[in-house]
Amino acid sequence: MDLGNLKLDDGAFLAPLCGVTTKAFRKLCRRYGAAVVYSETVSADGINMMNARTLDLARFDPEERPIGIQIFGCDAERIALAARIIEDLVSPDLIDLNFGCPVPKFVKKDKGAALLRDPARIRAIVQKTVKNVTIPVTCKMRTGWDEGTIVVEEIARIVEGEGGSALTIHGRTRSQGYSGTANWDWIRKAVDLVSIPIIGNGDVTGPSAAERRMKETGCRAVMIGRGAIGNPWVFRDVAARMAGEKNPAPPTPAERLAVVLEHIGLQIDERGERRGIPEFRRHLSAYTKGLPGSAAFRNRVNKIDRRTHLEELLEEFFSAQEREGRPHAA
Ligand SMILES: Cc1cc2nc3c(=O)[nH]c(=O)nc-3n(C[C@H](O)[C@H](O)[C@H](O)COP(=O)(O)O)c2cc1C
Repeated sequence: MDLGNLKLDDGAFLAPLCGVTTKAFRKLCRRYGAAVVYSETVSADGINMMNARTLDLARFDPEERPIGIQIFGCDAERIALAARIIEDLVSPDLIDLNFGCPVPKFVKKDKGAALLRDPARIRAIVQKTVKNVTIPVTCKMRTGWDEGTIVVEEIARIVEGEGGSALTIHGRTRSQGYSGTANWDWIRKAVDLVSIPIIGNGDVTGPSAAERRMKETGCRAVMIGRGAIGNPWVFRDVAARMAGEKNPAPPTPAERLAVVLEHIGLQIDERGERRGIPEFRRHLSAYTKGLPGSAAFRNRVNKIDRRTHLEELLEEFFSAQEREGRPHAA
């Protein structure tokens, strides 16, 4: 698939996930076949102030390419300026604009999903950002503020008209949060309406759902978020399905252990032990979910803050899975 002048391999996209899609996780997902990965969402204001911690969120290593840096903000000029700074500073493959984040901290300040109530402002943001950078600009939205104000069609036309290269649609409204299920009918409607690639998002956790959603809606790719946590192998499975190959064998406990240890190592290199280990708990819980003894294991590891101790317990846990002949989580 082409996004502007960027050529992508077939496969699912890794969604931007705040606190989750760090460099470490992005590297693993790319290695397992994510067609493109995204940064956590990065504040336009923080970029414009050259805040060191904000800029760190936008840094990446060459092996993560193709990578999109996602920017959030409320003001078109400031977002466009931030996009330019990011292009000059780290030169990502694309810039993604956040029109979907539902958390109160964002929407109270007219950022993220709040912008869905102001299509004119979305138009100005896309227009100015596209003009200010040379790389493709994509957008990511929810279907609307709530059930009564669905704006998929209007925003899809705006993004296409202002030169956006693709639009990702998470099939939930802002008021749904993460409850209920994503409504893919809106994704299909957007596909019918515009000619830029539409990326479908919401509740895809494996190759069968990815294939079904792409067939049903005609979307050019699916984006996977929560379904990739603890399961970077999902990208390998989706890519194989898209290539018409049979499902790859699920990871063995030894492969799982090797990836978890690598992930922890990369995470600690990036964030340090004090910050990296607590942040890793979400991944740890997902990597072990469904495996026998995982609840007791999680209770133990959640109290640990030393890398060596954590690694010992992980080796013990996965060796027991291997001995008992349990190949993988459900
Ligand atoms: C922990 C978490 C963090 C998220 N952070 C972002 C973000 O920074 N930017 C964004 O556009 N969406 C963010 N999202 C939304 C996801 O990108 C995605 O749209 C949503 O989870 C639905 O896809 P899924 O069902 O595959 O998880 C986040 C979701 C979760 C669960």
